[in-house]
Amino acid sequence: MNLFKTKSVEALQAEAAGEHGLRRSLTSLNLVSLGVGAIIGAGIFVLTGQAAAQYAGPAIAISFVISGLGCLFAGLCYAEFAAMIPISGSAYTYAYATMGEFLAWIIGWDLILEYLFCAPTVAVGWSGHFVAFLKEFGIVLPPALTNSPFDYVHGQLVSTGAIVNLPAVAIILLLSALLYIGIKESATFNNLMVITKVSVLLAVIGFGVWYLFAHPGLASKNWTPFIPENTGTFGQFGWSGIFKGAAVIFFAYIGFDAVSTSAQEAKNPQKHMPIGILGSLAVCTVIFISLSLVLTGMTNYTQLNNAAPVVNALQAAGAPVALRFVVEIAALAGLSSVILVMLMGQPRIFFSMANDGLLPPVFAKVHPRFKTPYVTTVVTGILAAIIGGILPLSLLGELVSIGTLFAFVIVCIGIIILRRKRPDAPRPFRTPLVPLIPILGAVTCLAQMVALPFDTWLRLVIWMALGFAIYFLYSRHHSKLNAK
Ligand code: ALA
Repeated sequence: MNLFKTKSVEALQAEAAGEHGLRRSLTSLNLVSLGVGAIIGAGIFVLTGQAAAQYAGPAIAISFVISGLGCLFAGLCYAEFAAMIPISGSAYTYAYATMGEFLAWIIGWDLILEYLFCAPTVAVGWSGHFVAFLKEFGIVLPPALTNSPFDYVHGQLVSTGAIVNLPAVAIILLLSALLYIGIKESATFNNLMVITKVSVLLAVIGFGVWYLFAHPGLASKNWTPFIPENTGTFGQFGWSGIFKGAAVIFFAYIGFDAVSTSAQEAKNPQKHMPIGILGSLAVCTVIFISLSLVLTGMTNYTQLNNAAPVVNALQAAGAPVALRFVVEIAALAGLSSVILVMLMGQPRIFFSMANDGLLPPVFAKVHPRFKTPYVTTVVTGILAAIIGGILPLSLLGELVSIGTLFAFVIVCIGIIILRRKRPDAPRPFRTPLVPLIPILGAVTCLAQMVALPFDTWLRLVIWMALGFAIYFLYSRHHSKLNAK
């Protein structure tokens, strides 16, 4: 039994082109929209302001450039793979084709950290926004039903006295129901959410630019110094703060890779996967850098360390109440589509793993009428709802980032391996400057992993140990490739 046996590119391509039961209905625009849907969320609405206040100051815009470059390099590698091997397993499948079954399993298991854990993380954020939004209308939900029963303080789980975070559970179950019914219906809902959040963010940027022109001197005052001096502690301002900021706001970019999990539902994956992945990344990078400049120009970065930095910055600038109100709605819409796309990606990765025999065969079932991987959609929804209902945000966010970064590193390395092993295989999209771009991608992502706290690494290792155990106890004995 060979742990490093790979699946051939031809076998995977035949699998993608053959009858797999899923419905091919997504256009290139749908794919860009899915990417933007997954990307713009808690990262830009909440984390950016906090990271500016704590680590980078106005230079958080430089953090966005650094993290964005890492994502661009990784995105180019994803684009090559997704067009060449359009299977919904994403990085899991790419690893299967390049590094063999064992590493594929590790990445599949690691992707759970990205997708299954990201959905509840953002759902907890959604719940906070929802509760605040209702309060504007005088509706107060009981705290015992809108908070996690635990909090994570100084490395320990402590009880909060609350029972469950009900809004987080509700939004996860609702969106899972939508995903159960159909990919087309889900994509339409996602388009609506994306139009809402993008147009509102553009309006905020427009207002910010107008405000800065109307108050000459304000921006240069707030942007000086653009890189605040380091306090003497690594990661608190100065260049180390910019890098720390980059590792923290990496979370904001997560999601463009989720486009690749819908490869088997795209009308023309060879052509449209690269457009979806790179197009969504480009749109969001421009929005992120512009918005971070506007935010730190309008408000001094020291004022941005709160739960709703965008809304508060607008408030401080005396923006019309209507604009603040729509930003709150946009945040709710934005977070909903992130949850939706993450809840879409996870079942499709499980589906691919079950098709390979690494997970129980029932996970490979497709709904006869809706043409969705309904078993994995239900399982994902229930697990995500449980996590979102009881676990605190602080425990989850960085775990999602480290899991995603790890997958990016493997995808970048995979490109180099496959170019060596199969230089002849047809590639509808080619990553430019191989091996330079994949190496830069892997190094940038690794550097961001290193900047994450030790605690997060420890959790990653424990998670992986659990994955090893499942592989050796179950998956390796049921692997279809091994059986051949
Ligand atoms: N990029 C996504 C967000 O910011 C995960 O919420």
